[in-house]
Formats: sequence, C-alpha cells, structure tokens
Amino acid sequence: MYKISQRRYLGNKNSILPFIDEIIQNEIGEFYSLCDIFSGTGVVGEYFNTSDRKIISNDLLYHNYISLSAYLNPEPFDEQKLTKIIDNFNSLEINEDNYFSINFGDRYYSKNTAKKIGYIREEIKELFVNGLINRKEKDILITSLIYSMDKIANTVGHYDAYIKKDIRKNELTMGMLNIDLQRNQHNKVYNKDANLLVRDIECDILYLDPPYNSRQYCDAYHLLENVALWQKPEVFGVAKKFDRTKLKSDYSKSDAAKSFDDLIQNAKCKYILFSYNNMGNKGNSRSNAKISDEDIMKTLQKRGKVKVFEKEYKEFNAGNTKVGDNKERVFFVKVSKFLY
Ligand SMILES: C[S@@+](CC[C@H](N)C(=O)[O-])C[C@H]1O[C@@H](n2cnc3c(N)ncnc32)[C@H](O)[C@@H]1O
Repeated sequence: MYKISQRRYLGNKNSILPFIDEIIQNEIGEFYSLCDIFSGTGVVGEYFNTSDRKIISNDLLYHNYISLSAYLNPEPFDEQKLTKIIDNFNSLEINEDNYFSINFGDRYYSKNTAKKIGYIREEIKELFVNGLINRKEKDILITSLIYSMDKIANTVGHYDAYIKKDIRKNELTMGMLNIDLQRNQHNKVYNKDANLLVRDIECDILYLDPPYNSRQYCDAYHLLENVALWQKPEVFGVAKKFDRTKLKSDYSKSDAAKSFDDLIQNAKCKYILFSYNNMGNKGNSRSNAKISDEDIMKTLQKRGKVKVFEKEYKEFNAGNTKVGDNKERVFFVKVSKFLY
C-alpha cells in the first residue's frame, strides 16, 4: 500500500507537519475547512483530513492533481477490482517498444521497465475509455504507476537529468493506495492556477506553500507530468522534456511578489499560514528566494497582524542532505481586514 507521503518531492512538507500542527493548535484551535492551495504531494491536507473537516487541495501540475484526486476526493472505487488489475500489471512482461520506451528507455529506466510503463499507461487509458474503470479508479491506477516509477527512477529524485552510468534494473511493482474515503466526504480537489482558484473559494485556513525560487516544478517533474497527461508530445534535449510553456509558475519568476500580493488580497479566509524559507541570497542564483521578506510582510500586513514561526531544517539539494543554517518559516496571519 502506498501512503501519500511515499513520493520524493522537492520542498515537500513531510518533516514539518508537526510544526504546522503546533502553530494551528496554539493560534487557531478548532477549524472546519483548510485549503492547501499549492498542494504538491498533498501531505499537508492529508495530515489535517478528518471526516468532519473539508480539505481543499489544488496544484497547477496535472500529475499532482491526479494523485490529490486519488487520495483525497470522495468518489467511490472498487478496491478488489483495482487490486486484480494491479496484480495483472505487475506480472506483465512486454517486448514491444512504445512512446515511453522509445523516449525514456535506457535513460530514466531500463529499456524493459520503460516498455512496461508505457504499456501499462496505455492500458489504463483503454480501461477508462471503455468504461471498465471510473474516473477515481483511473486516478488511483495512474497514481500507483507514478509512485512505483518514482521509487525506481534512475535519478536523484527529480527529472532534470538522469544518472548517466548504470541504469538500475529494478522491477516496477505497483501497489494499491492507502485511501480512507470516510475522511474525504467534504473534500474538493482542483487543478488551477492558485490566483484564479482563490477567487472562487472560501475556507477557515488558507495554507500557502508556493515554489520559492526560480526552479520550475514542471521542469523537475516533466516526466511524471508527461505520463499523467499521456498526450505523447514530442520531447527535446538530453532530458527529453516536452514543451512546458503553459505550465510555468509565476511564483518562480521575477514578479512573484506581485502574484503573491494578488493572491493574499483576494483570499476569503479567517487565517493565513504561509511557508517560505530563508535561503535569501545565500545559495546560487537559482536557489534565491523570489519574494523578499520586506514584500512578504508588506503584503501580509494588509490583512492583519503577522507572526513568524521558525524551525531548523535539513536542506535537500541534488540528492545530498546537508545541515545548513536554513530555517523553515511559517508566517501566520489572523485575518482582521476582510475585503469581501
Ligand atoms: C513547495 S511545492 C508544495 C509542496 C507541498 N506542500 C508538499 O508538501 O508536497 C509548490 C507547489 O506549487 C505548485 N504551483 C506552482 N505555481 C502554482 C500556481 N500558480 N498555482 C497552483 N500551484 C502552483 C507546484 O506545482 C508545486 O507542486
């Protein structure tokens, strides 16, 4: 069984969930709805997901949306049927080449594993198109494929490049996802630009964890995005990326502060929690934070009094974990200026 946290994802908040929880307990207490508007893997929403709460999840990238939908939306699914399909997928041996093996075989995966991945993805599409699985079941199967691919990829955890020496011959083994529908009853999942979504929703707590530097998530996870979308686009360069022009995030560009201000000024919520680390201008230029502390404070103060909470963390950098003087920071605002 795959748990939602069993994926490698840059900037995931797995290790600071108790820290976020502590802030919520001390500053807020009881609440009904939480919107995790830059969800990524969705671990933050999942952590606070109970049957009497509403968790709203959202991400710009489609592969994240698929997995958020698999884990957190309330639609029913037939677990027995899916387990049989997964067992069958696991036992396959595929000899023919396909879109995935031609482009990614002998690079991110061994040729044989790549053949299997491409074949399985096509099968999931066929099962759905022929009405043999519903949308939730399709999302569960794609997510299971993505989680199992992530475990054996010939990379350091993202897909900007693959490791050029030995390609791991690890078997692709899919598994069922650990989903508790009982807790999902009131949840909603979206695949929108956060600045558009914020205009359509209301919640008690708005949690924001945007990208904080110029590194685009669509570049780092292009391969998983390609598999989830399955439009078989042309791919380019050594890393075999597709055209991601439409997937670039404003939060990794120079006017990130403007987007952030627009989002915060349009938020219909009682509390704002904002994660943004303090790399400042210490690292290389790609790691530099896109929104200055001054701009963060200016924007947040327009909605109420700001408190800042800090915790030391281990920096994840190209596969090496090193202890630096980095702090994970959470800005907290009890909204007192309601603009709606
Ligand atoms: C730091 S990660 C979030 C990590 C997440 N909290 C977790 O624990 O897995 C930032 C996420 O924001 C998404 N993103 C970037 N720009 C966005 C936008 N304009 N609207 C919605 N999501 C966006 C990225 O795809 C990425 O998944």
